[in-house]
Amino acid sequence: MLLTPKQKEIVKIYAALSKKNGEYPTRADLLSSGISRDKVRDHFGNMEKLKVASRKENPKSFAKIDKKELATLTPKIPHALNDFTKEAIGNIVKENDFKEGTFFITAVSPTSYLDWSEQDFVRAENGEDVLAENLFEPGFAAIQNFLKRNKAEMVLLPMPAHVKGLQKQPQHYDPKLKEFRKSFATEYTFNPHLKAIEAHLNPQQANPITGLRRLRVHKYTGSYEKGQEIKRAKTSLIIGHSKQMMEVSPTGNASHPRIVHSTGCITKPSYLRNRVGMIANEDHMLGGLIVEVRGDVFWMRQVQFDVYNGSFVDLGTRYNANGSIAIERAEAMKIGDIHFGHHDQRALGGLYELFDLVKPKRIYMEDLFDATSVSHHLEKKRLTQAIISRDMKYFADLPSEIAYAKECLEDFWSHCPKDADIIATASNHPEHVMRYVEEGRYFNDCVPNRVIGHEMWLEGYRGQNPLQLRLDPKLRMIWSDQNADDYVEGVQMNVHGHLGTNGSRGNKIGHELAHGDVMTAHSHTPSIFHGCFTVGHMTHERHGYNNGPSTWILCCGAVYKGGMKQLYMIVKGTAFKPKHKKSETPKKNSSRKPS
Ligand SMILES: [Fe+2]
Repeated sequence: MLLTPKQKEIVKIYAALSKKNGEYPTRADLLSSGISRDKVRDHFGNMEKLKVASRKENPKSFAKIDKKELATLTPKIPHALNDFTKEAIGNIVKENDFKEGTFFITAVSPTSYLDWSEQDFVRAENGEDVLAENLFEPGFAAIQNFLKRNKAEMVLLPMPAHVKGLQKQPQHYDPKLKEFRKSFATEYTFNPHLKAIEAHLNPQQANPITGLRRLRVHKYTGSYEKGQEIKRAKTSLIIGHSKQMMEVSPTGNASHPRIVHSTGCITKPSYLRNRVGMIANEDHMLGGLIVEVRGDVFWMRQVQFDVYNGSFVDLGTRYNANGSIAIERAEAMKIGDIHFGHHDQRALGGLYELFDLVKPKRIYMEDLFDATSVSHHLEKKRLTQAIISRDMKYFADLPSEIAYAKECLEDFWSHCPKDADIIATASNHPEHVMRYVEEGRYFNDCVPNRVIGHEMWLEGYRGQNPLQLRLDPKLRMIWSDQNADDYVEGVQMNVHGHLGTNGSRGNKIGHELAHGDVMTAHSHTPSIFHGCFTVGHMTHERHGYNNGPSTWILCCGAVYKGGMKQLYMIVKGTAFKPKHKKSETPKKNSSRKPS
């Protein structure tokens, strides 16, 4: 169209301002150059038409703006396969029966409007395709580093869209995941004992495991062959979700419990700013699970990404986003309850292997003294008492139990890193001794117990710790005060788990509420409840009082720099897949065995 002289004058000013500022002039810019809103309206109708006319008349004046826009828009060009994850929303079932392998499992959330930039909204208004991004790229790069070095496979569990508007969009997942679409699965069977599923959970769900222990995965085959019937209840489950939680369920009276574990995810949090969204944002965990399979067993460990650089630690090795690794000592390790006398020497062998690998700087011992010889649990069980004293002579009386525990303790110390601080966490079983003294039960007990009971009463009266005086007279260990805090990398470690708020019994919900990031023990049952990681035990299965179905698992836990936590479940005497297929007896395994 031909411009009038007045239009040409306005267009010239508009182009000059664009060239000078590197952006389109606003109404205020034009007004300061003498072009009022009315003038624009009278001569062009609106600002958009003025812009079009100016660009046509003086295209070179807009080069700077064009360059800037191109730079912004280039990464957002819609990909030909931008709807690749449509297939992920359906069923992708992968049935395997691996006898060998290493896997990294995590969940991915779809992108949401909250991931859109202002430009994206403008593009959407113009009817253009928008590809938002939410992948936590540094963490994803660190995963690739792990996969390459460990010849591992990645499993991505796609979570569903959780905002109504999102469900109408074809572009759900970050386009950078397109080339990894073969890793997507909604059901992934590792072997008859472990399966990962995407259960269409809402990412805001407070506890993703709620109700899912009902899922037993394998059904009766109908053959009723001996051995087949147990498959139904025994398969452990990995659930794709933005939180990292874990629970354990029993599977019978004499079989290993099963695990239900949610993954954490590799996509950044984006939740609405309301009650539900804010809580979900708080609990969002950038992380995943590492699974090692050999034969019929598996080992599973959690990782959490450093939110700044994406790195994570597995078994004392930090995997960085730039492809490098670094050996890193654990800042602390909590040992599953030991209960010397009931301890499992094979499990301790696995623990000492772990010590060699992660070299913990601080080692927390839980329930190190069992106190079977004076336990109130056995007070009226005369027959059980007699059998225990006959079969495990060191439990016959308190002096014998102390002497045996001291030997075991010194053996334990000899396997710890020489420079490690060892902490005897204030625990309930060692306290059984003081309860025995407190109640004066030693008056009517056997002579050795009567003598030591009197001595202990006096020591307690003087403010001394009778067990420390006998087990650790040279103070190799730090004996913790049950009312003190002890934080390692922000994780509260001085919680055995028996004490709750205001003198009540402890539980994981209360521990998490009170301490936030915390590592506990006591239940002998590993679990993860938000920031509360609970270790298991290091003992034989039966202690004389825990009959019937069990959730006890041999398990310890470590804390690394940045507060990253990892639980180590000990299976077949080891916390990780042995390098060689025929595992040798650990060299440093103690020769001590419960007699
Ligand atoms: Fe215990």
